[in-house]
Amino acid sequence: MDKKVTVVGAGNVGATAAQRLAEKELCDVVLVDIIEGVPQGKSLDLTEAAPIEKHDAHLTGTNDYDASAGSDIVIITAGIPRKPGMSRDDLISTNAGIMKNVTKAVAQKSPDAVLIIVSNPLDAMCHVAYETSGFPKNRVMGMAGVLDSARFRAFISMELNVSVENTHAFVLGGHGDTMVPLPRYSTVAGIPITELMAQDRIDALVARTANGGAEIVSLLKTGSAYYAPASAAVEMAESILKDKKKILPCAAYLDGEYGLKGLFIGVPVKLGANGIEEIIEISLTDDETAALQKSAAAVAELKDVLAGIDY
Ligand code: NAI
Ligand code: 2OP
Repeated sequence: MDKKVTVVGAGNVGATAAQRLAEKELCDVVLVDIIEGVPQGKSLDLTEAAPIEKHDAHLTGTNDYDASAGSDIVIITAGIPRKPGMSRDDLISTNAGIMKNVTKAVAQKSPDAVLIIVSNPLDAMCHVAYETSGFPKNRVMGMAGVLDSARFRAFISMELNVSVENTHAFVLGGHGDTMVPLPRYSTVAGIPITELMAQDRIDALVARTANGGAEIVSLLKTGSAYYAPASAAVEMAESILKDKKKILPCAAYLDGEYGLKGLFIGVPVKLGANGIEEIIEISLTDDETAALQKSAAAVAELKDVLAGIDY
């Protein structure tokens, strides 16, 4: 393949993302992890599936970054996931140290890459990657909104018994309890769901979306979601690799947009070969603006926590 994507963290999200990237024949894949044998074993296993899945993507598993050199995109999933009773924010000090070390290594080997951050707490980890890499803001972004919107879409499709393909949804804000699902901008075949569902059902779907990560954690008991998160990260990577210019909700560094400055937060962006090519500012009602500001305040609080940790 003429494109290369490195996935750091060969755990649940990372290995599933590697599988989807290879099976879609988007790129060659380098899978990196600190655990000796795991990235090697998973890459070999995926390589042995290739004749059946009919793809020619090359997969390499490794414990260092040499093979990752010159990657077009690096997806960072390294870190610990949450367990029942833990919030995403409980992961901050462990994952900030991991994110710093990983980002240093990938930035050195792939100075022109686009970084897609997945590790939690997502918005804070984007800050660590942005500051550590020194990359421009268009080349550092976080995956959360695509996942949260996909969850909202799945619930809309289940509620109305329509194809998921007819659904569209936008979830903005931080990747936490304060995320901001936007029913007015969420549609079925172009029709806003506010015209298709009673308010109490919309409220129930919004609440289930905001609690979507915790719902999976409480079922799995040993970790968090990974199939949908991997799909979401790969949708972002595909838009960049193919310069598709999709409009997707991603955690982006805001510099005054939406009245917010110096924060990574989920907003609609255009994703193309240059990473974030545009931040789209949609009009929000007073209530929606207040919800986004509340979410931004929660992200700012985490940024303050980061400033107080020696990672
Ligand atoms: P996992 O535990 O299955 O995999 C994490 C992997 O990272 C492990 O294999 C571990 O060995 C590796 N790792 C740890 N330190 C490392 C280092 N310094 N260098 C390289 N690899 C290292 O966890 P899972 O389920 O894959 O989740 C990964 C992260 O993604 C978690 O922080 C989780 O909370 C987050 N996540 C974020 C989502 C989002 O929407 N942004 C959705 C799902 C998960
Ligand atoms: C999720 O939303 C844990 O952030 C992860 O599933």
